[in-house]
Amino acid sequence: MASRLMALWDWFDARMPSVGEEFRKHMSEYYAPKNFNFWYYFGVLSMLVLAVQIVSGIFLTMNYKPDAALAFGSVEYIMRDVPGGWLIRYIHSTGGSAFFLVVYLHMFRAMLYGSYKEPRELVWIFGVLLYLALMAEAFLGYLLPWGQMSYWGAQVIVNLFATVPFIGPDLALWIRGDYVVSDATLNRFFALHVIALPLVLLGLVVAHILALHDVGSNNPDGVEIKKNKDANGRPVDGIPFHPYYTVKDTVGVVVFLAVFCIVMFFLPEMGGYFLEYNNFIPADPLKTPEHIAPLWYFTPYYSILRAVPPLFNSQFPGVAAMGIATLILFLLPWLDRSPVKSIRYRGAYYKSALAIFVVAFMVLGYLGVKSTTVWGQFGFDAFFLDTKDRATWAARVCTVLYFAFFILMPWYTAKDKVKPVPDRVTM
Ligand code: HEM
Repeated sequence: MASRLMALWDWFDARMPSVGEEFRKHMSEYYAPKNFNFWYYFGVLSMLVLAVQIVSGIFLTMNYKPDAALAFGSVEYIMRDVPGGWLIRYIHSTGGSAFFLVVYLHMFRAMLYGSYKEPRELVWIFGVLLYLALMAEAFLGYLLPWGQMSYWGAQVIVNLFATVPFIGPDLALWIRGDYVVSDATLNRFFALHVIALPLVLLGLVVAHILALHDVGSNNPDGVEIKKNKDANGRPVDGIPFHPYYTVKDTVGVVVFLAVFCIVMFFLPEMGGYFLEYNNFIPADPLKTPEHIAPLWYFTPYYSILRAVPPLFNSQFPGVAAMGIATLILFLLPWLDRSPVKSIRYRGAYYKSALAIFVVAFMVLGYLGVKSTTVWGQFGFDAFFLDTKDRATWAARVCTVLYFAFFILMPWYTAKDKVKPVPDRVTM
């Protein structure tokens, strides 16, 4: 059997050698640092979730109807009547949240080890583009079940574009294809969600990996392994990606899939965080839900939007703050002036700044899932402000901390007392 397979491979290789060449270049002869740790699982897990979303999405599309009169019913039909339909839908809805979870952890790893710093700026830029495309993909997909949250969520987000000075109202009209969110909106969101954005995501993943493999991977020590090569020109601190990391990553994939299955089978709604309860009610353009909130992965930015007060009755400052909060990520490689990459060799300034940033991001996320009427439950009873105002101020403080992390970065990274970086990686 093995020799037959080898013969088949030889036949194929003689006719299309570029496949073998690419495999060697990116897998069996790609030397990755030997000290990858837990944080290095999330890149491959992001690729896995992308594949899971595409495959489950194809099967959902076989029974879904992108029509305002039929969409909600077709999702119920998938859940109740299509054999295995419920499983496919839960794979896709759980996959949506899992995608953001692994991508957030993946981005945090880059911040821990300074993976965005020279020479990996392009890897980071393609990463941020992936993050933006992923947000667009999730937003567009959320309209498709045509539930109350789908409808009103889309209404709120598209109306944000209407606040842009001068072109706003026309821009919102152009996005919707109608004066309100309607069948025309559903149709175009469907087209973008099932084909346009997945193509963009796939293309960006290819660019992301090519950019990474051209310069080589960073690692938890932030040491450039290409600086220390043996007589054969191989990095002494590197090991071939295949089989070493393919085997290691398999362990991560199995553990991830086990956790994924537990969530999917036992907690698919995750208490309303993965599938919102209001979305089990069909869209009603005449009835606004009392509390409109996006899914958990958008809530930090939603909080920033709500924290910034309107100016001359325009919500644009909040919208601009939300936009800048995501776009500022592009500048990270140039804002960080530290001579070292990894947090292991950085001083107290960067360590504290990163910790404060993460806490501020999570508090913003927490506040974003609460309606403004219950923002008050946040605490600090001794304050003189009423409860709603207290939460608004908590969101404002966290918004300032979020931006301070980036804006003050050139200063605190230059001032930080760094430790000497070893020549070789540590295990
Ligand atoms: C669909 C989304 C994404 C996929 C499939 C993906 C995939 C990968 C893979 C497979 C790697 C190599 C393995 C690893 O280092 O974990 C990697 C590395 C990297 N990714 Fe991503 N990524 C995604 C999104 C992002 C985002 C949103 C960012 C940042 C904004 C980012 C930044 C980076 C950086 C800086 C590296 C180099 C890490 C290092 O060498 O230490 N990626 N990515």
